[in-house]
Amino acid sequence: MDAFDKIIGYSSIKEELRQIGDTLKHREFYDKLGVRTPRGLLLCGEPGVGKSLMANALIRDSGRRAFCCRKDVPGGDFVKKIKKVFDAALQNEPSVVCLEDMDKFSDTDEFHPDTEEYVTVQSCLDQVREKQIFVLATVNSIRSLPPSLCRAGRFDRVIVVKPPRGQDAVGIAAHYLQAKSHMDRLDPQVIAKIMDGKSCAELEAVINQAGLYAGYERADRISMEHVLRACAQTLFNTTAQARDGQEDISLSRCQTITAPAQLIYHEAGHAAVSEVLCPGSVTLVYANTAGGEQDGFTRYYQDKDTPPLYWQKSRIICSLGGAAAVDQKFGLFDPGCRQDLNQAFAQARNLIVDICIHGFSLHGNGFNDSQQLAARQETAIAAEIEMCYKKAKEILALNRDFFQQLAAALAEQRLISVTDIQALREKCGIVPIAL
Ligand SMILES: Nc1ncnc2c1ncn2[C@@H]1O[C@H](COP(=O)(O)OP(=O)(O)OP(=O)(O)O)[C@@H](O)[C@H]1O
Ligand SMILES: [Mg+2]
Repeated sequence: MDAFDKIIGYSSIKEELRQIGDTLKHREFYDKLGVRTPRGLLLCGEPGVGKSLMANALIRDSGRRAFCCRKDVPGGDFVKKIKKVFDAALQNEPSVVCLEDMDKFSDTDEFHPDTEEYVTVQSCLDQVREKQIFVLATVNSIRSLPPSLCRAGRFDRVIVVKPPRGQDAVGIAAHYLQAKSHMDRLDPQVIAKIMDGKSCAELEAVINQAGLYAGYERADRISMEHVLRACAQTLFNTTAQARDGQEDISLSRCQTITAPAQLIYHEAGHAAVSEVLCPGSVTLVYANTAGGEQDGFTRYYQDKDTPPLYWQKSRIICSLGGAAAVDQKFGLFDPGCRQDLNQAFAQARNLIVDICIHGFSLHGNGFNDSQQLAARQETAIAAEIEMCYKKAKEILALNRDFFQQLAAALAEQRLISVTDIQALREKCGIVPIAL
């Protein structure tokens, strides 16, 4: 077992950390070759992706004493603290200085990057150049740092840590499930897919939140229903009520347009269209109509094998799937589709104006486009939306049974997952459609 075993996944980053750790533990091999070993490492990434976990693993692996510093006192005192930390590291050579959340050391912007805090860090780095002191820093963003701080010779290596994807995310979900009492059916793959794009900390938190729901209900074990509720709560800040606290919406009442019926068919429309175009792409669908509230969402997952252009085009049709479903079901325009329309227009603009799927003559940069070009672009975008809307209705008509059953499941359960949808897909079958 080594110091990096606590980091689940991220094999290439771990390998890089092991190599840096080796330069700290076995400098003699590198000295013999006449190479300069790295003096510093910057770990950069959004909150909760494991930067501090990785920094601590590297410190443990190095076997050196570490002196850490994060902004916890006001300006002048903090500058003194930075100097003190470097002094302590000097007195305990070989050692590590760890500057946690270094981008919070000072309020900088692109015009004033050289604040006293960063100037101090830089001069401390230069003072310990020839010493056996390794400087590690973690940041959420590199943009607010003075460029001179990040140049080679100071922070030699910058490692960008991204949210976990694929098997890394599955491994992290499995790791956090392992420590909890859960039903055997809980599948880390499903959790990872639903939470795709979210940080390690969010994956950890969602599994814990599911446990809190189970505890509050005095359940012996965590069930998938608890996990789904926790995912919905984390992703969309939904209310935490259990299903049995919900108003019962039977589909028979959905035959005439009421607010709950509209919401259910709207979300089922998004989901059905996405599943027909990209099977397996819907991970969570939610429709809450409790207490007079109308709150719904559909969450998608982009498989890495789906061609990007196909995915982008399918997203326009999918954005219009909610309105198309209400139109199909009740013959009415859906007043709840304003946001979807904005999204569809933005997506279509991107395809037509930026990527030029209908030819280069519609390309524009938005700054010095002529009025004529702008008018032609708007006409092409509107035509694309019309076509996609028709396509969405066609998909729903061809897959009426699947769409109806999705709506029924949503009306009954309020929250349905990738597993429920897959079962419905297999039961009803899908009539595919070319784009
Ligand atoms: N690869 C991983 N495997 C297992 N757990 C992880 C992993 N990455 C992060 N975690 C867990 O996620 C939580 C947040 O990690 P950490 O504090 O290292 O994130 P961070 O990137 O430093 O965030 P911040 O920018 O907010 O400081 C911790 O509980 C940590 O154990
Ligand atoms: Mg951190």
